[in-house]
Amino acid sequence: MSQTLLRGRTLSFLRWPDNTDDHAAYRYEEDGGLLLDGGKIVAAGSYADVSAKAAESARRIDHRPHLILPGLIDAHVHFPQMQVIASYGAELLDWLNKYTFPEETKFDNAQHGRRIARLFLDEMVRQGTTTVSAYCSVHKQSAEAFFAESHERNMLNIAGKVMMDRNAPDGVLDTPLGGYDDSKALIAEWHGKGRQLYAITPRFAITSSPEQMEMAGALAREFPELHMQTHLSENHAEIAFTRELYPWSRDYTDVYEHYGLLGPRALFGHCIHLSEREADALSDSGSVAVFCPTSNLFLGSGLFDYQRYRTRTKPLRIATATDVGGGTNYSMLRTMDEGYKVIALNGEKLNPFASFWQLTRGNAEALSIADRVGTLHVGTDADIVVLNSRATPAMKLRMETVGALAEELFLLQTLGDDRSVAEVYVAGRPAKSALEAAAP
Ligand code: GUN
Ligand code: ZN
Repeated sequence: MSQTLLRGRTLSFLRWPDNTDDHAAYRYEEDGGLLLDGGKIVAAGSYADVSAKAAESARRIDHRPHLILPGLIDAHVHFPQMQVIASYGAELLDWLNKYTFPEETKFDNAQHGRRIARLFLDEMVRQGTTTVSAYCSVHKQSAEAFFAESHERNMLNIAGKVMMDRNAPDGVLDTPLGGYDDSKALIAEWHGKGRQLYAITPRFAITSSPEQMEMAGALAREFPELHMQTHLSENHAEIAFTRELYPWSRDYTDVYEHYGLLGPRALFGHCIHLSEREADALSDSGSVAVFCPTSNLFLGSGLFDYQRYRTRTKPLRIATATDVGGGTNYSMLRTMDEGYKVIALNGEKLNPFASFWQLTRGNAEALSIADRVGTLHVGTDADIVVLNSRATPAMKLRMETVGALAEELFLLQTLGDDRSVAEVYVAGRPAKSALEAAAP
């Protein structure tokens, strides 16, 4: 297997950074090296040390003066919504009915699914995102299309076909048994194949009957190693409708709790309007609340209280995500910029090291995959992003006055987007430049 030796300013996190002076929270090498072999990082440290370990034949790529970080992670995104993003003027339930469900009916066509999956993963690579937790449509073939594309690129992605059997048009409905059988067949075919991971995906309580929720719970019991992803407490009308549909429940979270869907691999999108009891239940079970700032702003859903959830007596595990197509940008840099503003509206400031921890190691920990991705540690998968802080004239100008690393990261978060992503490595192979080279 041929080696690749990268040179640049390497940055990887060890734990949550309390503030911009918390230098023990990360490892930064001004002249850093990473040696990649067989899809893994096999050496990391100063360039001098790492290059001494490289074979004579190693391919050497000099990314100076750019930053080299672990690939960014998006913990909640809907790949079939690429032609829903930027749909005007509705709150959640109307937005689903008017735009999203009709669009997702198109994914009964396998060719359409394959085309959008390909364009979606191209876009992820362009944006520096190397791992997503993706919702597919209700159609089994949409998940097959996603996994086939992901597997072909050797990306580590989590995905599942949504289970939904009511309160939506016929073209996006399954049945309790059909949803169970299709999920099970997809698990058998894709979970653990290469780098693919399956997530049991009941869309949300409104579109699943109690019978279907039972089936989702049965899958979670049969496959405890799998992720489970769904939506929770995004919008007031959604919460009220859920209470009508599950009148016995103490609250929205209780619906998922009742069917055995909470746990360390359970990912709950949004979690904006949780009561203290609900937050306690998520915390006690080790469940993850997924912060989707651009979506929450765009759909007028509300302000996720990141710092309160993080620091309460029973803290929540938190991930961050685009939630495209409710979300308005594919870039995790743009997402974190909006996240910063939401946190500011809640009276707090997220320090730039914490932002980049969240986009990399923090999201990997929340997804329970930090042993594989999210850092530049030796032995982990070589999913890497190279960031250019001078990618545009305005960034270049602002960089003239930037001194500390934390300021540079904040600039990348505030002004950066796909133009700042100079290169991406997926399992050790250059992926962004390969896309550009292949472009017509
Ligand atoms: N709740 C149920 N489905 C969806 C979806 O596709 N997007 C968002 N933002 N919320 C949802
Ligand atoms: Zn969503």
